[in-house]
Amino acid sequence: MSNVVVITGAATGLGRATALKLAKQQYKLMIVDFNEVEGQNTANMAVELGAEAIFVKADVSNEEDVKAYVAKAVEKFGTINYFLNNAGIMVPFRLVHEYDASEYDRIMNINVKGAFLGVKYVIPVMLENGGGTIINTVSSNSFKPTAYNGLYAATKHAVNGLTKSIGQDYQAKNIYAVGVAPNNMQTNISAGAAVTLNEEIGTAIQLTTPPNISATAEEVAEAMIFAMNNGKLLTGSTINCAGGQILL
Ligand SMILES: NC(=O)c1ccc[n+]([C@@H]2O[C@H](COP(=O)([O-])OP(=O)(O)OC[C@H]3O[C@@H](n4cnc5c(N)ncnc54)[C@H](O)[C@@H]3O)[C@@H](O)[C@H]2O)c1
Repeated sequence: MSNVVVITGAATGLGRATALKLAKQQYKLMIVDFNEVEGQNTANMAVELGAEAIFVKADVSNEEDVKAYVAKAVEKFGTINYFLNNAGIMVPFRLVHEYDASEYDRIMNINVKGAFLGVKYVIPVMLENGGGTIINTVSSNSFKPTAYNGLYAATKHAVNGLTKSIGQDYQAKNIYAVGVAPNNMQTNISAGAAVTLNEEIGTAIQLTTPPNISATAEEVAEAMIFAMNNGKLLTGSTINCAGGQILL
């Protein structure tokens, strides 16, 4: 099998950390993100590490952008062996009834529709290719919500469902889907949520979060690569990176 990886949300955080580890292993990389400056920086860093890597600017929630990045990957590398469906956002911490419909639309469009559009256009390439492995970045919030995080939890439960469905429905076609669920990972994503953080919300979050070991993006990137290498074994399941929190 060739080694072409398309990874979304790779301008920063987990996506970048995974891309750079893969670059050291000579994977061919397409970095997809709507952050043009940092996305291009990730691609440049991957090239410096010896990989063939390109950056494509795309909003994962925009169907035309998704079609374009998938087409570009096929044009440039011939196929897609691994798809890391990783881009995601958080919205401000609120109780569910306090959210505006616009916040619902924004997080659903990026976290759920973006993940769906990715697999919608990548799976036909994998079918043509005889198989492939999809890694969906989910969350401990795919299993159990933290306080004041209901919309984010809803999106990550949805992507967990997508992972299970792909795992179930494509076994005979050699297409595998594995979830990787970070929990308390040191990246910038929570800045989008923390704008509403106050003492009451902070206490509620602590009360709904059992003790756990936090992780760096580099550590969780190891789980992403393990999932890539073991798609057949793990398909339909999710690797829980919650560091001691027991999530069922
Ligand atoms: N950090 C955590 O504790 C944590 C916990 C559980 C799950 N996650 C998940 O990990 C994944 C990666 O997040 P991270 O923690 O590395 O944060 P991050 O903010 O560093 O990375 C997210 C990336 O997605 C990109 N992105 C966001 N919306 C996009 C869009 N519409 N189109 C294209 N790119 C877009 C951002 O530009 C960024 O590069 C996300 O799916 C997130 O939900 C993170």
